[in-house]
Amino acid sequence: MKEKFAAQLTEAYQFKGPSIQLGAAMLDKELIPQVKVSLPLKMMNRHGLIAGATGTGKTKSLQVFAEQLSAQGVSCVLLDIKGDLSGIAMPGSMNPKIDERQKAIQMDWNPRENFVEFLTISGKEGAKLRATVSEFGPVLLSKILGLNDTQESVVAMIFKFCDDNGLLLLDLEDLKRVIQFINEEGKDEIEKEFGTFSTTSTGTILRKIIELEQQGATIFFGERSFEMDDLVRVDKKGRGVISILRVADIQDKPKFFSTFMLQMLAEIYSKFPEVGDLDKPKLMFFIDEAHLLFEEANSALLNQLDTVIKLIRSKGIGLIFITQNPIDIPDSVLAQLGMKIQHALRAFTAKDRKAIKMAAENYPETAFYEVSQLITELGIGEAFVTGLNEKGIPTPLVHTMMRAPESRMDILTDNELSSIVSKSEIAAYYNEIINRESASEILKRKIEDAKEDGPPVQEKKEGKSTLQKIFDSTVTRQVGRTVARELTRGLLGMFGIKTTARRTKSWF
Ligand SMILES: Nc1ncnc2c1ncn2[C@@H]1O[C@H](COP(=O)(O)OP(=O)(O)O)[C@@H](O)[C@H]1O
Ligand SMILES: [Mg+2]
Repeated sequence: MKEKFAAQLTEAYQFKGPSIQLGAAMLDKELIPQVKVSLPLKMMNRHGLIAGATGTGKTKSLQVFAEQLSAQGVSCVLLDIKGDLSGIAMPGSMNPKIDERQKAIQMDWNPRENFVEFLTISGKEGAKLRATVSEFGPVLLSKILGLNDTQESVVAMIFKFCDDNGLLLLDLEDLKRVIQFINEEGKDEIEKEFGTFSTTSTGTILRKIIELEQQGATIFFGERSFEMDDLVRVDKKGRGVISILRVADIQDKPKFFSTFMLQMLAEIYSKFPEVGDLDKPKLMFFIDEAHLLFEEANSALLNQLDTVIKLIRSKGIGLIFITQNPIDIPDSVLAQLGMKIQHALRAFTAKDRKAIKMAAENYPETAFYEVSQLITELGIGEAFVTGLNEKGIPTPLVHTMMRAPESRMDILTDNELSSIVSKSEIAAYYNEIINRESASEILKRKIEDAKEDGPPVQEKKEGKSTLQKIFDSTVTRQVGRTVARELTRGLLGMFGIKTTARRTKSWF
């Protein structure tokens, strides 16, 4: 049995191209160190899952992946929900446990740091990640607000109206101001162009925006908006950047979190060119606590997420979801994940046992293991592994003793963190406060000007409507790159639309 296992597994886990070293194989809970487990770099855009109960080794597995991807020039984004990933920026230090593990699996261990950027929503400890309301777009905005079709079409109208008139929607304040405007001064004129709409709809939209603000979304909307290209960079040593996105500030707002993630993926999708199958991915996303992404998402949002996951692969982008049990992930998403790293699950209740049975059924059949039993008995830092070989065929399930990360397993101290952030060009750029004139100021001023000019709002003067006057040419010049970018807005509108402006050179 042991010989057969060693022969089969060695064969199955041998690849031509570069790979990610995960650890060594086990059979009957015994290490077989000569059988190394790795997965081809080339297939990482086929997405994956890291699952397991708390404390079983998910985060360390993530770290093992991210540091090897980076070392091979692949940029990574880590969604750090609990704030426990910062250590990846510093070299690890040897300790007896690491020593024992690495000796047992017969793999080298060399401490090394990584090329890391910190990003945050709040802007406290890293570059501030923001998007303008314009970029967020009517489709996603309606989804996050939970609007019905009628209200959604009113939102679409508002965006169109702002486009036509060069009104920048930077933050939620702008959006509220525009809605107020179309409810009052601008109503007649807008209805002439777009048809009638009910103020009940705009009232509801306004109320939901305020709710969203109360959820803390205000800090996310505005400038400078983050250029997704900045997530893909290689340093002088050829290491891909690891962007650690601290989302602790929004993890208790699951709906905002899922929409935020979707917006990010959608924007990346729209920005990155089609590349087909590359030798290695361009960018890898690790989404910790992924159940948050799916829990609160309504079916419309889920559908879009599904679509993005399906399509983003051909842009050279891979997603790895990290969650406790695979059943946290919707079936339609789970079916698209080529790689699975399953750490131990705990069976306390009948419900747990059922969940484990279901989880076990997701893995390829194996003659070597009693999967649903062994899943509950895996040691810390051990996992069932299956992935795709270079031909896209699933590799056999293998009980693996995972290798230890070579970067630090503990978090950074506050000083270490702020020292890294203070040296970051990206943080300096995105944390600079800029205050462009946007819809709310423009409307306010222009309405005042128009009123001083005399004619009541619906009347015309010198062949020009008040509205036309309000949005006279001066506005358009200030719009700059946002006009180009705003075309990408809205998930559905995003597909297939090329965008132009870019602050610095593109990294591709
Ligand atoms: N691959 C590994 N190498 C070394 N130690 C590990 C490994 N995986 C897990 N551990 C140990 O187990 C602890 C818990 O792992 P962690 O990845 O934080 O679990 P989870 O994310 O599943 O809650 C770590 O702090 C570490 O001590
Ligand atoms: Mg963890």
